[in-house]
Amino acid sequence: MVARESVPDVRITASPAQAQDLVFDEIRALLLRGQRSLLGLATGATYAGLFPRLQAEFAAGRLPIEALLATHLDEYLGFPPERKGGMVHELETGCPVLAERRRAGMFLPVPHEGSETALRAHEQRLQRAGGVHLQLLGIGRNGHLAFNEPGTPFELGFHITTLAATTRDDAKPRFLPEEPPLQACTAGLATILLARRVILCAFGKAKAPAVAAMLEGEVTTACPASVLRRHGNALVLLDREAASELGRAARV
Ligand code: GLP
Repeated sequence: MVARESVPDVRITASPAQAQDLVFDEIRALLLRGQRSLLGLATGATYAGLFPRLQAEFAAGRLPIEALLATHLDEYLGFPPERKGGMVHELETGCPVLAERRRAGMFLPVPHEGSETALRAHEQRLQRAGGVHLQLLGIGRNGHLAFNEPGTPFELGFHITTLAATTRDDAKPRFLPEEPPLQACTAGLATILLARRVILCAFGKAKAPAVAAMLEGEVTTACPASVLRRHGNALVLLDREAASELGRAARV
């Protein structure tokens, strides 16, 4: 069966800050729904500004902490929450409320030791929590989503992956003076497609070729992010630089 393609809603924003405002508004709406809907977070420079802002809003009582039920996309193998360089460590440093929610069983971290049993148990835990409602995504300059590197089959759920050379290069600064890890545990592309809504943000010139391949190239495992064209409810937020190789996106 050939899966139907659907065009993501693509918006070119004046700045990453404007894109971040739109992401923030969707998160706030989710938290105010009153149903404790699962929020899927993403890591990386793209979202670095978001977590301190969420923290400030929680601390000021403008967002309800008890409504926060969250998870995230991926973790380096062998990186428990307290280990610097890891994804949970990054998220909880930016937004310490997440550490509090983890201790309350309301922030569900990706298993860092990566056994098959732990991966399947994590998937079941997400399902029991009602599945991810809103999933935030970034994109690698090689077109990866989470740590699904080029060539990863679209059908995989959570799995262990070996990081591409460009991914390890980009991750270098966070691990200095050590070398970046070789492997990670990641949500699969099939996992990502299960989210009710996805928002992908990409900023800067270095992302432009991957963004063009995602939106205008073939839907192919060579560009894992192109799988988003099989998701019926995807929003793509770009700055002008990330959009600079696109021929047809709508401008706002
Ligand atoms: C990492 C993460 C991805 C993220 C990507 C882009 O590899 N696994 O989920 O989207 O980097 O990161 P950045 O936002 O730093 O460009």
